[in-house]
Amino acid sequence: MGYGKLNILIVGGGGREHAMAEAVARSSRAGRIYCAPGNAGTEQAAENVALDVMDFDGLIAFARERQVDLTLVGPEAPLCTGIVDRFQKAGLRIFGPTKSAAKIEGDKAYAKSLMRSADIPTAEARVFTEFADARAYLLTRDEGLVVKASGLAAGKGVILCDTPAQAVFACEKLMVERPFGDAGRTVVVEERIKGEELSVLALVSGRGICILESAQDHKTLSDGDTGPNTGGMGAYSPAPRATQTVLRGVERDILLPIVDCLDREGHPFQGVLYVGLMLTVAGPKVLEFNCRFGDPEAQVILPRIRSDFLSLMEAVVEGRLEDAAIDWDPRPTVGVVMASAGYPGAVEDGKVITGLDEAAALPDVTVYHSGTRRLDHHILTKGGRILTVTASGDTHAEAQRRAYQAADRIHFDGMHYRRDIAHRAIGDVPVDSA
Ligand code: AMP
Ligand code: GLY
Repeated sequence: MGYGKLNILIVGGGGREHAMAEAVARSSRAGRIYCAPGNAGTEQAAENVALDVMDFDGLIAFARERQVDLTLVGPEAPLCTGIVDRFQKAGLRIFGPTKSAAKIEGDKAYAKSLMRSADIPTAEARVFTEFADARAYLLTRDEGLVVKASGLAAGKGVILCDTPAQAVFACEKLMVERPFGDAGRTVVVEERIKGEELSVLALVSGRGICILESAQDHKTLSDGDTGPNTGGMGAYSPAPRATQTVLRGVERDILLPIVDCLDREGHPFQGVLYVGLMLTVAGPKVLEFNCRFGDPEAQVILPRIRSDFLSLMEAVVEGRLEDAAIDWDPRPTVGVVMASAGYPGAVEDGKVITGLDEAAALPDVTVYHSGTRRLDHHILTKGGRILTVTASGDTHAEAQRRAYQAADRIHFDGMHYRRDIAHRAIGDVPVDSA
């Protein structure tokens, strides 16, 4: 492949995919950019295509017809269902792991067994396929536990329990009531560990890895890190806790062993591997692996990449990561998620969003759309997480101030956003200065 222009298809329609579309559009090598299905934000950088992320036949036919050179996949559902295998079989280039490698996210019981075999630090866990067995085990415990649906549950299948009795109730819900269907047929019961959370993402191509700048996501709904877990209410990058020492340890003790293990098992990973970590007193431990960019982490990490984004994506697909070195904007970025009333539960769609242009006109501000759609000249809400308002600054405090100045210009009925995104980074002193 030469260094000509590339036509790109981005699969997905959230804030992450909007950030991917903007990163692609900044590349001098971008030809035509398509986003399926996209949203009212992605259409500023790409042409939206009315195809569902699970419509593999439709996406393959579109990629052929429009001479797409490279497809980038955002969400986990198509990856875990085998979109990459299908595109590869059709002779089309695609960024992301095959179905068997994506299992590291789609099957938490499998991820635990891989971690065990590769000796990767993680919370102690047991796997159950029968509720009676889970219950019998839990009745022998006397501490806080975490119960997780083994399959995909849109970030809602993890239940933190203070007592074994709550854990029994959680297992019964997942395994017997089955709100997430077969995703809850198997559960993972973990010891509850403590510490600050960190997301470390790496580009991976077989055994080659290129670690990205760190981020921290705020998972809970309300200020002070309280309330129910959500898909993420805001994020910032870099995370001061992710010192060079921590990152080198994560690379050596977690990333290299897991990609070697996947490769040895015959499931080489290609794409982005996301490690959700907890920094415990005993060192970093893995909470989860994801097989894709995070949302909202992508909205704060991707804008900081100064290198040519498409060349990086191509290096992954072509197995040339050894040569990859990324030039980063050193300035921190903070992203505040604006959500609909009721999120993470049921929400009402169709509220008119105002102030978007005013917010985006502020210095160093970008507003990424998640659940939005255009109706004539209005932009309307659609779903739970609606926007990620991001800003960069010389310090985390300045980036945070700018992000909130921008968010405060935006309005839609029932909107909710946290006021304290990045609070841990402000006045936070790195534990070492290596
Ligand atoms: P996960 O989707 O597995 O990352 O879990 C979602 C969230 O639940 C994490 O971001 C943590 O806040 C929390 N969590 C998951 N596993 C544990 C654990 N073993 N101990 C304490 N908190 C956890
Ligand atoms: N922000 C968490 C995730 O993307 O899974």
